Amino acid sequence: MGLDDLPAVQVIERAAFSAPWPANAYRTELETNKLAHYLVVRVGDEVAGFAGLWLMVDEAHVTTFAIAPAWRRNHLAERLLVAILDIALDRRATEATLEVRLSNLPARRLYEKFGFRPVGIRPRYYSDNSEDALIMTTEPLRSPEMVARLAERRGALASVAEPVRVEPPPRPGTDRGA
Ligand SMILES: CC(C)(COP(=O)(O)OP(=O)(O)OC[C@H]1O[C@@H](n2cnc3c(N)ncnc32)[C@H](O)[C@@H]1OP(=O)(O)O)[C@@H](O)C(=O)NCCC(=O)NCCS
Repeated sequence: MGLDDLPAVQVIERAAFSAPWPANAYRTELETNKLAHYLVVRVGDEVAGFAGLWLMVDEAHVTTFAIAPAWRRNHLAERLLVAILDIALDRRATEATLEVRLSNLPARRLYEKFGFRPVGIRPRYYSDNSEDALIMTTEPLRSPEMVARLAERRGALASVAEPVRVEPPPRPGTDRGA
């Protein structure tokens, strides 16, 4: 993610989350947070989604994660997750963690596919509706299970169809979660 991507990121942020980050939050992260890595996934020239990662000692923490509504169900989230786990591995993180709303089943299914497992609850974590956060963590990133799982996901992604844009009907955002 670069500064030029921020207008598109803001549009996706507002479409994806009921409690979006303030407009300058991504700029501040990009300009000042040396622990942070932010990625976008593009289809052609269009920013279709983004993800954020903080690398803290040996832990990789997913801070944000969203795909634009029109580009969902094209395995783009999976591609992004592979990319951020690759960064985590490259920076020698030993595990990856995140928080997700308990009710956010699409995101939970996505993370489970990549070996994230529930390890705890942060009660009333989300201030907009007091929903609990589920804390999810991977097996050690270099464990045989995770290495095999990532290789399997990477292989599956190599043969998925080209993404197709489907403009969804207008609807309120879902949730801030990662
Ligand atoms: C969650 C989200 C990132 C998924 O993005 P996506 O690009 O549509 O996901 P993918 O196409 O890569 O799907 C990967 C897997 O995630 C799960 N998944 C994705 N959307 C799902 C849905 N609507 N229902 C159930 N499972 C879903 C499935 O396991 C899917 O694999 P499958 O297609 O083999 O069933 C997207 O819905 C989104 O941006 N939601 C709003 C923001 C958000 O919730 N972010 C996460 C915060 S923690």
